[in-house]
Amino acid sequence: MKSLALLAWALLFCATSLCSWPNIAFDSAAEASAILKWKASLQKHFVMLSWNTSSRHPNAKTSPCAWFGIHCNRADSVRRINLTGYGVKGMLHSFPFSSLPNLAELDLSTNEFYGIIPPQIGQLSKLTYLDLSYNMFTGQIPPQIGHLIHLETLHLAGNQLNGSIPRETGRLKSFTELALIPSEIGDSHQIGILDLSSNHLFGEIPKEIAKLTSLLHLDLNGNQLSGSVPLELGLVSNLLYLDLSENRLSNSIPETIGNLSMLFHLNLSFNHFSQRIPIQVGKLAGLVFLDLSNTVLSGEIPTQFQSLQSLMVLNLSYNNVLYRHFIQSAAWSHSHHPSISKCFDRSISREQSFMWQC
Ligand SMILES: *[C@@H]1O[C@H](CO)[C@@H](O)[C@H](O)[C@H]1NC(C)=O
Ligand SMILES: *[C@@H]1O[C@H](CO)[C@@H](O)[C@H](O)[C@H]1NC(C)=O
Ligand SMILES: *[C@@H]1O[C@H](CO)[C@@H](O)[C@H](O)[C@H]1NC(C)=O
Ligand SMILES: *[C@@H]1O[C@H](CO)[C@@H](O)[C@H](O)[C@H]1NC(C)=O
Ligand SMILES: *[C@@H]1O[C@H](CO)[C@@H](O)[C@H](O)[C@H]1NC(C)=O
Ligand SMILES: *[C@@H]1O[C@H](CO)[C@@H](O)[C@H](O)[C@H]1NC(C)=O
Repeated sequence: MKSLALLAWALLFCATSLCSWPNIAFDSAAEASAILKWKASLQKHFVMLSWNTSSRHPNAKTSPCAWFGIHCNRADSVRRINLTGYGVKGMLHSFPFSSLPNLAELDLSTNEFYGIIPPQIGQLSKLTYLDLSYNMFTGQIPPQIGHLIHLETLHLAGNQLNGSIPRETGRLKSFTELALIPSEIGDSHQIGILDLSSNHLFGEIPKEIAKLTSLLHLDLNGNQLSGSVPLELGLVSNLLYLDLSENRLSNSIPETIGNLSMLFHLNLSFNHFSQRIPIQVGKLAGLVFLDLSNTVLSGEIPTQFQSLQSLMVLNLSYNNVLYRHFIQSAAWSHSHHPSISKCFDRSISREQSFMWQC
C-alpha cells in the first residue's frame, strides 16, 4: 500500500513538474563548467564554437544541451556526447568523468585524441556505449572499464593501446548479476560488441571473456596476442562474429569452437595454429565466412565441412591442408549444394591452397 502511494506520488510529481526523479542528482551549471574545463585543455576544437557560456560570445548558448555534439535527457542533464570525426585534438585527463552522472553514450571516434585512457572512466557508471576508436590513445586498457556495468558496446579499435586485455572486462557481465537486475532486463544491459582490433595488445586472451555470455561480436584482429585460444571461448554461445586474425595465437584451435552455433563469421587467419582443423568447426552450420588461411594448419579438410551449407567464403590457402579427397567426396556435389559446383571452378589456385568463394 505504501509503495503504491509512493508510485502515485511519483507519477503526480512527474506530471506536474519537471520530472527528474529517475535521474541521478546533477547540476546543469556544474556540468557546463566541467565540460568547459575539458574544452580549455584541448588543442584543436574548432567544432566546439557553441561551447561557451559567456553572453558576449555570438554563438554562445548558456545550456550545454544546446551545444554542438551534446544531447541531454528530458531533465537537461548531459546524456550523450558525440564528436565523431571532427578533428578534435587533445587528451582526456581533464574530461569531466565525475561531473556527468547521466552520461550514457560517449562517441569520440576518429579524432586526434592521444595519451592514456584515464582510469576515472570507470566513474561514468551509466555508460552503455563507449567509442574511442581510431584515435592515438596509448598505454593500457584501464581495468576500471570493468566498473561500467551497463556497457553494451565498447569500441577501442585503431589506437596504439598495449598491455594485455584486462581480465576485468570479464566483469562487465557478472557485475550486472551482482546488481540484481531482473534477468530479462539484465540481458539487454550486457555487453554485445567488444572491438579491440588494430592495437598493440599482447599476452593471452583472458579466459574471463567466457563470462560475457551476451557477447555477439568479438574483434581482436591485428594485435600481438599469443598463447592458446581459451577453451572457455566456447561458452560465449551467442557469438555471431569472431575475428582473432593477425595475432600470434598458437597451439591447436580448440574443439569447443564447435559450441558457437550462432557464428556466421569466423576469421582465425594469420596466426600460428598447428595441427588439424578440429572436426567441430563442421558443426557451425550458420557460417557464411570462414577464413583459416595462413595458420600453419595441416591434415585433411574434415568431411564434416559438408554441413557448412551457408558458406560463401572458405579460405584455407597458405596452409598444408589436403583438400583433394574432400573435393572428390560426393557430399559437395550438385545434389547437396547446387550453387557449390558453380563456385568451385574459381576455387583451386595453388597446389597447397584451397580458396573457395561464391
Ligand atoms: C567564450 O567566448 C569569449 C568571448 O568570445 C572568449 O573570450 C572565451 O575564451 C570563450 N570561452 C571558451 C571556454 O571558449
Ligand atoms: C554520432 O554521430 C554520427 C554521425 O554524425 C553517427 O553516425 C553515430 O551513430 C553517432 N553516435 C552515437 C553514439 O550516437
Ligand atoms: C606501452 O605504451 C606506453 C606508451 O606508449 C609505453 O611507454 C610503454 O613502454 C609500452 N609498454 C610496452 C610493454 O610496450
Ligand atoms: C563444448 O564443446 C566440447 C568439445 O567439442 C564438448 O565436449 C562440450 O560438451 C561442449 N559444451 C557445451 C556446453 O555444449
Ligand atoms: C580475415 O582477416 C584477414 C586479416 O585481418 C583479412 O585480410 C581477411 O579479409 C579476413 N577474411 C574475411 C573472410 O573477412
Ligand atoms: C585468402 O587468404 C589469402 C591469405 O590470407 C589472401 O591472400 C586472399 O586474399 C584471401 N582471399 C579472400 C577472397 O579473402
